Amino acid sequence: MTRQTETLEAALPRAVGARVTGAWVPIRNLSPQHRPRISDHLLALNERDRLLRFGMLATDEQIRGYVDHIDFERDLVFGIFDRRLEVLAMAHLAFEPAGDQPGTVVEFGVSVSERARGRGCGARLFDHAVTHARNRGARTMMVHIARDNTAMLGIVRRAGADVQFDGSEAVARLLLPQDTLGSQIEELVGHQAAEMDYRIKMQVLRLDRLRPPCLRQLADKH
Ligand SMILES: CC(C)(COP(=O)(O)OP(=O)(O)OC[C@H]1O[C@@H](n2cnc3c(N)ncnc32)[C@H](O)[C@@H]1OP(=O)(O)O)[C@@H](O)C(=O)NCCC(=O)NCCS
Repeated sequence: MTRQTETLEAALPRAVGARVTGAWVPIRNLSPQHRPRISDHLLALNERDRLLRFGMLATDEQIRGYVDHIDFERDLVFGIFDRRLEVLAMAHLAFEPAGDQPGTVVEFGVSVSERARGRGCGARLFDHAVTHARNRGARTMMVHIARDNTAMLGIVRRAGADVQFDGSEAVARLLLPQDTLGSQIEELVGHQAAEMDYRIKMQVLRLDRLRPPCLRQLADKH
């Protein structure tokens, strides 16, 4: 791992209880080329997490079908990558289909790999999605949440969402403010920085592959 990557990695808080609230986390826009990495991330979720994420016990086949059908033209998909460019966390912001009051309501779904939980990734993806949704003119963000999903309920409540319970489910509705010059600049700067972080990680991985195996093992230990 190079010094640059170490510095960027250091921005990601390490453990529960060690959350660094102000630290920057690179969040990248995902595109169709990332479908395999998105699949790997989602297929690694256990049964309970699949239930929380999709509202049903999604099978591997259903998850693959979901990933194949993500409409990257209409929707926004964000990801946080580790240094091996595996997806640590991802969020899907689904826009209403065109023709049905386009762009006014968006639906948010998120998942964080078990090893990365409790470090603020979920909350950061939510904040990031809010900025992107308002910058595209959305006025309401909705999240379907299981009644016992304390972490997700915490995230939406902190943002000021109205939460309505119905049986074992809850629906959170967050009214989004209009975009401002500040929210547009925030998106632009965040995008460029995350892009640079991704390119550095990709370059490091490429260099790593060129090293002889003995040196690769040494680097992994440090
Ligand atoms: C819900 C989920 C996305 C949260 O991600 P995360 O990165 O662990 O969450 P964060 O670290 O950003 O923490 C968010 C809040 O939840 C709290 N929290 C985190 N884990 C918690 C837990 N196990 N129990 C209770 N609260 C918890 C945090 O303290 C934080 O609250 P705060 O802002 O008041 O400090 C993650 O647990 C997950 O992927 N679950 C499976 C899929 C899912 O439930 N998706 C949501 C439905 S769309």
